Amino acid sequence: MAEPLIIVNLKAYAEGMGEGAGIIAAAAEEIGEESGVTIGVAPAYTDLHPIAMHYAVPVYAQHIDGVAPGAYTGHVTAEQVRAAGAFGTLINHSERRLTLAAIEASCAAARKSDLQTVICTNNAATTAAAAALSPDYVAIEPPELIGSGVSVSKADPGIIERSVMAAKNVNPGVRVLTGAGISTGECVRIALELGTDGVLLASGVVKAKDPAAVLRDLVSLI
Ligand code: G3P
Repeated sequence: MAEPLIIVNLKAYAEGMGEGAGIIAAAAEEIGEESGVTIGVAPAYTDLHPIAMHYAVPVYAQHIDGVAPGAYTGHVTAEQVRAAGAFGTLINHSERRLTLAAIEASCAAARKSDLQTVICTNNAATTAAAAALSPDYVAIEPPELIGSGVSVSKADPGIIERSVMAAKNVNPGVRVLTGAGISTGECVRIALELGTDGVLLASGVVKAKDPAAVLRDLVSLI
């Protein structure tokens, strides 16, 4: 297994913007260095550049549009987020769903700009389709568990196993993350035992009183 990856999606949470984004990124940097686990953050676009400049963590955009630079008002291109310091990008997050054609276009644009690609999916079938596009990662997140505080690792381990199998059958080289309700080291340990390469999470860290303590717990059983 490759080195585990934890990505903290700051979404549009008030606690995860501006100063809050900096606090979480600083904790990710410190605990990542202590533990040897890679902990990335996916801030809002408005925080992408300062976070990438000030903290030694991989920074991900939450979405990119699959268009080349040009006359596209309100779009965000791979070139723009790369220039702002992004290391990678989420694509097709459950809260930012795309058509299959748009996923393919975003993935191609990201690759062209040397961004690591994480395509989010909601079940084994869409995981297989995403894996066929050869992203760096697919991230399976059952939508009903997102933000629920109920961990996918415990509530639906079967979907993780089926998705890992579906992804690897289509593309043995693709790495798999899982997410939804992840908040403890035990959730992470189970996800890794089920064959994933890491987790994608949000509220468990972003809304915590002490995000650093949660991150420390997340890496504690790896
Ligand atoms: O992108 C992470 C995500 O959708 C899971 O959210 O709050 O359940 O960890 P959460």
